[in-house]
Amino acid sequence: MSDVDGREVVKVWEVRNRFGLDFLELAERSIDPPGAGEVRVALRAASLNYRDLMMIRGQYDPRIPLPFVPASDGVGEVTEIGAGVSRVHVGDRVACIFSPTWISGDPEREYIRQGLGGRRDGTLARAINVPAEGLVHVPEHLSDVEAASLPCAAVTAWTALTRLASLTAGDILLVQGTGGVSIFALQFARLLGARVIATSSSDDKRKRLSELGAWATINYRVDPVWGKTALELTGGRGVDQVIEVGGAQTLSQSLKAIRPGGTISLIGVLSGSSGELGLTQILMRQIRVQGVVVGNRTDFENMNRAIAAHELRPLVDRVFPFEEVPKALDYLKSGAHFGKVCIRIA
Ligand SMILES: NC(=O)c1ccc[n+]([C@@H]2O[C@H](COP(=O)([O-])OP(=O)(O)OC[C@H]3O[C@@H](n4cnc5c(N)ncnc54)[C@H](OP(=O)(O)O)[C@@H]3O)[C@@H](O)[C@H]2O)c1
Repeated sequence: MSDVDGREVVKVWEVRNRFGLDFLELAERSIDPPGAGEVRVALRAASLNYRDLMMIRGQYDPRIPLPFVPASDGVGEVTEIGAGVSRVHVGDRVACIFSPTWISGDPEREYIRQGLGGRRDGTLARAINVPAEGLVHVPEHLSDVEAASLPCAAVTAWTALTRLASLTAGDILLVQGTGGVSIFALQFARLLGARVIATSSSDDKRKRLSELGAWATINYRVDPVWGKTALELTGGRGVDQVIEVGGAQTLSQSLKAIRPGGTISLIGVLSGSSGELGLTQILMRQIRVQGVVVGNRTDFENMNRAIAAHELRPLVDRVFPFEEVPKALDYLKSGAHFGKVCIRIA
């Protein structure tokens, strides 16, 4: 469909007048032809991340101008290219990278502010214009939905394990919970030859973690001192790395579990973002607390090569149709999922 000026009209989900899941609306927007260096992607699938919930509620970036289209993760087909684009071609299947200007190296402040689904409109849309530099080709063996699960959660897990630490065969990784980031971290750690201790609040999910290759699992609700339990599981040596998604209420247990010289990859703050922390143990045991913010395009491409080489399949828990985005967000909020919650757009 086109508007009176001949611009394509596309359906998008947008946070229009005020923050909150109840104020997410299905709307129509006219989009300009792609500018120089840009391409139009007809989106086929998207995936949701905890960040999207926070962004919609106004908890992630309360000063973001409204309206905006949420979500960072999307896969689709290039349908139109702007002047000067040679990186991709019409018909290519591509995924958006989290921050379309972050190509390699450490993040600059601006890259983080420019993540899709915030100050830049995101992927809960039937089509989007994005810089061609901010796209990657996706592994062929993956379905659209599987490929759409990669840009935020998988790249974060990959970056944490590889570029920002060096998890290797025989190492022990501890992952917290069974959300998108932690399940990808488990899968990548197995692929790298490491052992995984995984925590969950659910015994049913623990069974599934074992089926996925977890070496040991702990119910963090039943065992509040799970860090000590993890330490014992390693024979007192400690784990080499922790994927820290809990934050304030889990970090003290992670510090119990980690070996001297190990890395705590600080990724999420699901249980809060501030609290008391014993600094002496970090100092005396030479522990590295490494902040992680997704990853750059090079990380995404390196990860895709590993996924293709091992024909790894992302763990997609449920797929909702585009019209049911609010239901999908409610499901993500419930925490009932195991792996990724995805949206089929086309
Ligand atoms: N820094 C970055 O670049 C980056 C990138 C992606 C995500 N994140 C952050 O990482 C966190 C996880 O993201 P996600 O997308 O993987 O979330 P998600 O898919 O919504 O995962 C939620 C799961 O985490 C587990 N969980 C919740 N509270 C927990 C706690 N106190 N202790 C241990 N596990 C807990 C639960 O697993 P069980 O049901 O098994 O208990 C829950 O199902 C979020 O805070 C998100 O904002 C950061």
